[in-house]
Amino acid sequence: MAKGRRVGILTAGGDSPGLNAAIRGFAKAALSQGMDVIGFRDGFRGLAEDHRVRLRSANLAGILTVGGTVLGTSRDKPHKMIVDGKQVDMTEAIVRTYERNGLNALVCIGGGGTQKNALRLADAGLDIVTIPKTIDGDVAMTDATIGFATALEVATEAIDRLHSTAHSHHRIIVAEVMGHRSGWLALSAGLAGGADVILVPEMPYRIATVVDAIRRRTKQGSNFSIVAVAEGARNEVDAAAFDVAERRHEEAASPAEKEAATADLAALELRHADNTLRLANQLEELTGLESRVSILGYVQRGGTPSAVDRLLATRLGNAAADLVASNEFGCMVASIGDRTMAVPLSEVAGKRRTVPIDDPLVIAAKHVGTCLG
Ligand code: F6P
Repeated sequence: MAKGRRVGILTAGGDSPGLNAAIRGFAKAALSQGMDVIGFRDGFRGLAEDHRVRLRSANLAGILTVGGTVLGTSRDKPHKMIVDGKQVDMTEAIVRTYERNGLNALVCIGGGGTQKNALRLADAGLDIVTIPKTIDGDVAMTDATIGFATALEVATEAIDRLHSTAHSHHRIIVAEVMGHRSGWLALSAGLAGGADVILVPEMPYRIATVVDAIRRRTKQGSNFSIVAVAEGARNEVDAAAFDVAERRHEEAASPAEKEAATADLAALELRHADNTLRLANQLEELTGLESRVSILGYVQRGGTPSAVDRLLATRLGNAAADLVASNEFGCMVASIGDRTMAVPLSEVAGKRRTVPIDDPLVIAAKHVGTCLG
C-alpha cells in the first residue's frame, strides 16, 4: 500500500501555465492515499542542494488557478550543474538527497530536457515518474503537454488584436510566437487567429513565396498582412546551415569535438537571434509595405492557466500518484486522447514531437489559403 511512502516532486525547465495545478493534482491525490510529499525548489538544483518544503493541504490551497510554479524552476541539469562558477556532475549529490530524505519516488514535471534528465536519474537508481509540460507542445509520445492550451489562447488573442492595427496602418505585422524547435504553437495560433502567413521550424521557407503571398493579397485589395512566425523558423539557406551544425553536434566522436560543435551551434544561434526582425525588414523591402515586429515572448508563458490546462494538469497529476502507488516507475504519464498512459522514459527522452508536413492542421492551413512559406 502507498501509506507512509515519501515522494519528492519538482518542476524543471521553462515554466508554463498549469504547473501548480499539476503539483496540486499529484500532491492531493498522494496525501489522500497516506503518502508524504516533499517539494524540491528550483528544479534539479533543489534536489542537488536538498532545498525542500513539505507539501500539505494548507500550502496546496488556492494554487490551482495560479500561474508559474510555487516550487520555482530552473534549467539546471543534474549532470552539468554550475556550482561556484564551475560545471559539476551533481548526480551523486542528488542520489544522496533522495536517500537522506527516505524518498520512495520522485515526480518530475517538465518538458523534453526534463525527460532526458529524469532518465539519467532513473539510470542512477531513482524511482521516477514524469509529467509532461511545455507551451511548445513538443514532448514525444503524448498528445498534450501542460501549458500549451493556455499559451495558444494568449497567442491567438494577440494575433487577433494585431489584425486591427495592421489593417488600419496598411502594414505587415510579423508576430513571433515561442517555439525554437517545433512550430505547434505558431501553427495553431496562426491558424486560429487567421494569420495570412505561418512559418514554422519544420518547414524551411522561401522568402519569395512569402512575398508572392503578400503581393497577391495586395492585388486583391488587402494591403496588410499578419505573419505568424515561430522563433525557430528559418529560410531554406539558414536551415541547411543549421542542419549541418546540428549533425556535426550529434555525430561528435569525442568530448573535444562535442565541445567545439556545441560552441559552433551556439555561435550560429546567436547570429540568427534577430531572425524575425530580419524577416520583417526583408518583407518591407520586397513588398513596399511598412513592416513591424511584435514579439509575443513571455506573456505566452505567464498568468493563470486555462480550464483545459487545469483539467489536463489535474488528470496527469492524479495519474502520476496512481503510478507511484502501484510501483510503476521509469515512465512518463502521457495524455493520449482523453486517457492517460504510462510510457517508458527511454521511449520519450531525446525525442521531439514536431509538426509533420501532412499534419491535419498543415493541410487545413493550406486549404484556407494560408501561406506556409
Ligand atoms: O521551452 C519553452 C520555451 O518557452 C520556448 O518556447 C522558448 O523558446 C524557451 O522556453 C525560452 O526559454 P527561457 O525561459 O530559458 O528564456
